[in-house]
Amino acid sequence: YVIGVDLGTSAVKTLLVSQAGEVTAEATKEYPLYHERSGWSEQDPEDWVAGTLEALKELVAKSGVSAEDIEGLSFSGQMHGLVLLDPAGKPVRRAILWNDTRTTEQCRRIERTLGEKLLSVTRNPALEGFTLPKILWVREHEPEAFAKASRFVLPKDYVRYRLDGAIHMDLSDAAGTLMLDVAGKSWSQDVLSAFELAPEFCPPLVEASAQTGTLLPEVASAVGLTASTKVFAGGADNACGAIGSGILKPGLTLCSIGTSGVVLTYEPDASADYKGKVHFFNHGKANSFYAMGVTLAAGYSLSWFRGTFAKGESFEALTAGIDEIKPGSNGLLFTPYIVGERTPHPDAVIRGSFIGMDGAHTRAHFTRAVMEGITFSLNESVDMFREAGKTVDTIVSIGGGAKNPVWLQMQADIFQAEVVALENEQGPGLGAAMLAAAGCGWFPSLDACADVFVKRAKTYRPIPENAAEYAKLFRIYQQVYGKTKELN
Ligand code: XUL
Repeated sequence: YVIGVDLGTSAVKTLLVSQAGEVTAEATKEYPLYHERSGWSEQDPEDWVAGTLEALKELVAKSGVSAEDIEGLSFSGQMHGLVLLDPAGKPVRRAILWNDTRTTEQCRRIERTLGEKLLSVTRNPALEGFTLPKILWVREHEPEAFAKASRFVLPKDYVRYRLDGAIHMDLSDAAGTLMLDVAGKSWSQDVLSAFELAPEFCPPLVEASAQTGTLLPEVASAVGLTASTKVFAGGADNACGAIGSGILKPGLTLCSIGTSGVVLTYEPDASADYKGKVHFFNHGKANSFYAMGVTLAAGYSLSWFRGTFAKGESFEALTAGIDEIKPGSNGLLFTPYIVGERTPHPDAVIRGSFIGMDGAHTRAHFTRAVMEGITFSLNESVDMFREAGKTVDTIVSIGGGAKNPVWLQMQADIFQAEVVALENEQGPGLGAAMLAAAGCGWFPSLDACADVFVKRAKTYRPIPENAAEYAKLFRIYQQVYGKTKELN
């Protein structure tokens, strides 16, 4: 057996996975988020450690598996969060998370200072969520805390350090710091010297599949595992989501609809040039990459709609009857910018819209229009990949968006691609377990592991007349952003 630890924003989820790729036990622990000021989002790294230890203990106890049979564990982590450590390895303040937006000023400064190097080296735009702007913010606003810090790590790296005693960062997570030379797979001297950061401030880099150690004896005995349990670096949650869905070769794309939505596509090398319009990160599979677009309010748009107009009802009740409505929701169009947008419009102030309301529309029309609008937004990323010359013909769909067959067919029709749903999909936690499984030598490669662990359930193919109708509506959808921008 191996264990996948998925260190998320609301909870840590642990999975015990057998050699056949079956998840045989799960344990989850939640922890608090602190929003002390508008736009701030922080967590206490000690809560992550305590939650992970409790979840592991519960997982091992309830699994009925003997500790000797659990060979290794690995991680998937929420990206970008800043954990500053003092020389003794203690956090000097709370972690500042990926969804914290206090750093707009620092982002503009990074753009001015790095100029064209920002894109040519880091391959990404300067966004508030990324790590470098957070480092600059702490240095400017909390100089006493910053003076105590001798290095930084990302969330899962801190938890791993507490489990095996060694400080490392894997490339897929380091790619989200804005300090990595993504194609060169090393810390960028240009970026570090531009902001007067010492090379020792950055942890040693490893591949996501690398073994970083074994469990510390006191940790092993606290959770009921042995001290010979191997610990592997693990990767960023999006990279692990891609691994857990088998996005490991050219032509494969992932659509993940959770609170936010992500479309990411496998890149065999770093040659693609999206001009900073999408994220471009190192993959958890060595020597490969992925490009990724983000819709900020994907599942969140549907939860907002349910919470506001169908309070107390289930998603099943909310979506009942939408299959009887034709594509296009009878002229009703929704844009999902209810908390701003990232791709293709990095715009924190834009807000959403319903357009084309008719006296004959019912709540089911609105529900369907919300799902269509979310999918149109994700299709903007698919469109950008295609414009850059990529073939997007198979999209694996995971998350809330993969739970409803009408939505899966809608994705096939709007994306004009085959959409694949997985059996018992587990997302990033399974990807983390796969890194441990391949690392333990169960398989010659991650690809071989995916052949066993990732099980396809059903494929949805575009229905030509629906696809044609959606192609027409998508062109109208794309104009709404420019026309409603002035409202905000
Ligand atoms: C990616 C991003 C989120 C976090 C969530 O750029 O900000 O997907 O990784 O944990």
